[in-house]
Amino acid sequence: MIIAIDGEASTGKSTQAKKIAKKLNINYRDSGAYYRAITLYLIKNQINSKETIGNDLFSKIDISQKFENESLFIFLNGENVTSKIRGHKVSVNVSEYAKKPEIRNFVYKLLRKSSELTSIVVDGRDIGTVVFPDADYKFFLYAIPEIRAKRRHKEINDESVKIESIAREIKERDDTDSNRDIAPLKKAEDAHGIDVSYLTIDQVFEEILQKIII
Ligand code: CDP
Repeated sequence: MIIAIDGEASTGKSTQAKKIAKKLNINYRDSGAYYRAITLYLIKNQINSKETIGNDLFSKIDISQKFENESLFIFLNGENVTSKIRGHKVSVNVSEYAKKPEIRNFVYKLLRKSSELTSIVVDGRDIGTVVFPDADYKFFLYAIPEIRAKRRHKEINDESVKIESIAREIKERDDTDSNRDIAPLKKAEDAHGIDVSYLTIDQVFEEILQKIII
């Protein structure tokens, strides 16, 4: 079984995906975390987003995800980068790298491989449209931008970070993700859309579960 949870930035996709994985006792993959880990590697190695990335470089990037006790851990060449990939520098650059076809293909291979042996829930932007168009269940989460910025601000829990700068970062990322040529952020026709603006985490979870016939 494959469950796809797509949607806009900061709509709680990963929170829902983890809850589903736990409830159904299946695996979880965060596709955005792959793009973030690749971005971290390329920035560290001073490779800008305009350069073409060849197979020789990809062969040096080993990324794995481990879902354990309701937490997801991301490893980049053996290093635990779970927190590092959420930093500001990666957040403001990731969408430019995620536009690149060679990077997308690299991530697609990792995601499809993860689904070969186990049932899985995957969150992202193009999971139901491109990566797993035949997914058993597809959801698309969206919300008013101001509410998403407020939620992300609360989550970061750092008063020195201004809500306006978070709102700007989210908006720029959404624009880049929605307007790119390859695999843009959009709802799959057969996805169940949920406006999460005024719903609690549990309410969204209930709505998702009701659609999944176990
Ligand atoms: O957590 P949040 O929704 O803010 O972002 P994320 O899931 O960590 O994704 C980070 C970025 O990776 C997105 O803004 C996209 O640019 C890219 N991404 C993508 O292109 N395709 C996906 N399936 C997932 C993420």
